[in-house]
Amino acid sequence: MAHQWRGVLREYSDRLDISDKTPIITLGEGGTPLLPAPALSAMTGAKVFVKYEGMNPTGSFKDRGMTMAVSKAVEDGAKAIICASTGNTSASAAAYAAHAGITAAVLVPEGKISMGKLSQAVAHNGQLIQLKGNFDDCLDIARDLAKNYPVHLVNSVNNDRIEGQKTAAFEVVSVLEDAPDFHFLPVGNAGNYTAYSRGYAEELARGVTTKLPRMFGFQASGSAPIVLGHPVKNPDTLASAIRIGNPASWELALTARDNTNGYFGAIDDETILKAQRILSAQVGIFVEPASAISVAGLLERAEAGEIPAGSTVVLTVTGHGLKDPQWALRKEDGSQVEPTVVSVDLEEVAGVLGLVKGGLH
Ligand code: F0G
Repeated sequence: MAHQWRGVLREYSDRLDISDKTPIITLGEGGTPLLPAPALSAMTGAKVFVKYEGMNPTGSFKDRGMTMAVSKAVEDGAKAIICASTGNTSASAAAYAAHAGITAAVLVPEGKISMGKLSQAVAHNGQLIQLKGNFDDCLDIARDLAKNYPVHLVNSVNNDRIEGQKTAAFEVVSVLEDAPDFHFLPVGNAGNYTAYSRGYAEELARGVTTKLPRMFGFQASGSAPIVLGHPVKNPDTLASAIRIGNPASWELALTARDNTNGYFGAIDDETILKAQRILSAQVGIFVEPASAISVAGLLERAEAGEIPAGSTVVLTVTGHGLKDPQWALRKEDGSQVEPTVVSVDLEEVAGVLGLVKGGLH
């Protein structure tokens, strides 16, 4: 039989706290492509690679952490899990709970998560509750529920999530055969920033890499508590996945930044959408707006002269574009793209396409 990727727990069983007694709840997550991005390399003078996490089973990087968190929850005898979410965690939690045959309760901010993600939570039979508040309110309630009721918390304040997610750094190292010079990623709760930092630190300790990458994290300007140095009460950005005002892994992330000579920056919404367009139109990778902030961050830092020519740069793009596709149909001036409609007429179609009869391909 052809080799099939077995999911991150089996592929990295020696690097994670699992045993023969741990039931492996997997949907085949991880093993995602690390793709060269020639267009971004040309723009920046760096060697740029994109870690395409939208290729995970529910379309985001959350699956790496969720396979670990749900497997450990089931090992502990949990019958129900709970999470707060801006959408991707809830989609992933609901899918892994469905696979495990347990219940997932998900708390999301009312009207603030994308249709794609909402549909996933419902499709996987999650108990979906919309809270009249923001993500930070949802996380407070989820934590209190887990403290006082028999439900197992699977947000990234649960260390099992971070452990599962660190496997992405292992994959990058195995492809590049060293750590990159820079790693760029979006930051919401800063769980993934923490997870990659841990993964790279473990690779260095094992002696398979020669350095730690400088960890560069980006928040949306209207939702940038780490950059501002204080919580944001009413975070606002169209990148709904990272609309978070009080990150759960704030302290861990600051430590990781200091250990790696890292950086946190903020990017405004229009610049995020521009970067999303560059990635989809010039590299061929469609991501949700929150993920495009990695690209925007690289372009901004390169413009500022902070990325030496020839540096190896990895960008994690965290979620698939189909999660929240409406932004691709919005033009730069804010108007909607209107597809061209023509009759069933060869000449007319050729005319609209600008094709000339007998011309070369
Ligand atoms: N990118 C996407 C697509 C996300 O969904 C998230 C977080 C992040 C980046 C940021 O990752 O929180 O580890 O810093 N989404 C969470 C959720 C909050 O509920 O789906 P982080």
